Amino acid sequence: MTATLTQRALAARSNAYAPYSRFHVGAALITEDGQVFSGCNVENAAYPEGVCAEAGAISAMVAAGGDRKIATIMVAGKGPAPCLPCGGCRQKIREFATPRTCVLVVDEDGALLFKDNLHALLPSSFGPENLETAPEGKQA
Ligand code: THU
Repeated sequence: MTATLTQRALAARSNAYAPYSRFHVGAALITEDGQVFSGCNVENAAYPEGVCAEAGAISAMVAAGGDRKIATIMVAGKGPAPCLPCGGCRQKIREFATPRTCVLVVDEDGALLFKDNLHALLPSSFGPENLETAPEGKQA
């Protein structure tokens, strides 16, 4: 499983469009039912419009229409410092996470630099449950 994610994340990284930062990132995730999706960062001349690799992988998962529970997501950046998901991506992962969701970070050669639970990266988080409301007319 880790080998597959590494292969997919590095393949996506090789397609990254990052002419401004020159920091190429790939991401690959596996859903709880075993499907793998990947993405890369896509920058834009209007800098804030760029999107992270993790967001691309999540979009691919959602567009495929199947299981949306992320078992593990891997980010492939450039070492030696691990390319940890940014705050915005932590929240995007959180949307489709379970208490077991794992985050792995590898370097450009696929060497593992970081491994932990999403919860460690985004404790006390806000998620879909916060918006769950009682049936109409029965809200507190
Ligand atoms: N980036 C990602 O794609 N994922 C991360 O986890 C961190 C940063 C991208 C955004 C931008 O294109 C470049 O890396 C430099 O910040």
